[in-house]
Amino acid sequence: MTSPVSRSVGGMSTTDDYVFRTFPARAPGEDQHDATRAWLQADAQGFHDSRLGDASLDRSATNLANDHQQLTAVYTTSPRPSALGADVPVATFASFERSINVGGAVPLPAHLISSITVRPTHRRHGILRRMMTDDLRSAHEAGYAVAALTVTEATIYRRFGFGPATTVHEVTVTTDQRFRLLTPASGHTELIDPATLLTLSPEVFAGFHRVRPGSVDRHHRYPGRVSGLDGPNGEEDRTVRAAAHYDESGAIDGYVSYRFLGWDTRPHTLEVVDLVATTDAAYLGLWEFLGSVDLIERVRYDAAPADDPLRWALVDPRLIETRDVVDWLWMRVLDVRAAFEARGYTADAAGEVVLSVTDALGYAQGAFRLRVADGRAVVEAADRSQAELELDVWVLGTLYLGGVDPAVLAAAGQLHEVAPGAVSRLRTLLRPVAPVHGITHF
Ligand SMILES: CC(C)(COP(=O)(O)OP(=O)(O)OC[C@H]1O[C@@H](n2cnc3c(N)ncnc32)[C@H](O)[C@@H]1OP(=O)(O)O)[C@@H](O)C(=O)NCCC(=O)NCCS
Repeated sequence: MTSPVSRSVGGMSTTDDYVFRTFPARAPGEDQHDATRAWLQADAQGFHDSRLGDASLDRSATNLANDHQQLTAVYTTSPRPSALGADVPVATFASFERSINVGGAVPLPAHLISSITVRPTHRRHGILRRMMTDDLRSAHEAGYAVAALTVTEATIYRRFGFGPATTVHEVTVTTDQRFRLLTPASGHTELIDPATLLTLSPEVFAGFHRVRPGSVDRHHRYPGRVSGLDGPNGEEDRTVRAAAHYDESGAIDGYVSYRFLGWDTRPHTLEVVDLVATTDAAYLGLWEFLGSVDLIERVRYDAAPADDPLRWALVDPRLIETRDVVDWLWMRVLDVRAAFEARGYTADAAGEVVLSVTDALGYAQGAFRLRVADGRAVVEAADRSQAELELDVWVLGTLYLGGVDPAVLAAAGQLHEVAPGAVSRLRTLLRPVAPVHGITHF
């Protein structure tokens, strides 16, 4: 029952049933702060979080404002007596800019989308479709080459052109007396006060973001979250502990924050809250530390890389149990030329291929010749009759970072080879400059 009539003025538009309003997030004391607070409560409701207290609302609003998040709130035009008031949104949506490491010389500014909720009593009225298509149009007009999101359900966003581009593994590592590395890690690890992470975590993360394709620059909520200072309900989470890894020169090149799950959890378990390593040595060093904590027999980590060096560093790789493989970053190409020219290519990737892309929203629709040489690409418009590969825009998003093999997508029937050998060429051209991994959720 989508309302067909739509009128739009500035950041506000209406249908017969709903008012759609987009406004910048505002911190306490600023204009619009009340709307931001109501939006935050609706967002928390959508994700089944607790109702937020004042401290939590203030901190969250400040974070959103510092991120320059644009919030969309949808209000019903006919609230019922005693129902949540007309000032409480029935749907939420947010977007903001952060960069993504796409393997190129510099990270690519991307349009990130977050906080999508529609109240159960208003679902399937076309509200998500309306918020998403309006927002992607604005992002395209603003010149973004890509949009991205992380998702709670994997069946919703392909229709809007998003494809899963990075993956994480949820792992459990047994850390009893069998845990040993084949070669001791270099550097050393020390416990730190978790509060140190308020300033340390963004610095270390910047080093990770520089070197890791698939990484998304973090928003302002992160330091509070990974240090435990901004725990559930705005309270400090005092279960969080932290350690830093120091390289041979004494410089910090990684950290881990973690919590003990309690004496009643058997085997006794540490859960990693955040693990950021700027080098392979730091990654292994932090695992060596986690594996050495006394009275602990198991470590859980929900954002391990798909190609995990730990597996090859352990004397017994079977100590790692992968509980789940989870799609993480979903990418949407809005401008094929800008996206693929910004991307990095390996030094030995050379050649060309013509892609024919279908895009229901139109932004990436067309045929494109991708020419790669000397670590760079040039993209030109081509004729559909020259197409060597045919694919939908969501598949283009999945392929973009090089974290998914084109041959696998072809085998899945999602990448159609018109010219024999084209899939193999695309594999060579899109090989990532380093293993693809992201550890930012938004
Ligand atoms: C998922 C959610 C946002 C959908 O909102 P909605 O307003 O009901 O969606 P719409 O009516 O605009 O539907 C848009 C399209 O998505 C489809 N869709 C909606 N929810 C879907 C779901 N859970 N699974 C698969 N498809 C879904 C609809 O069938 C529709 O398809 P079409 O336009 O191609 O015909 C809403 O149900 C919700 O808030 N769920 C809980 C929070 C959540 O999961 N948020 C997503 C965070 S990433």
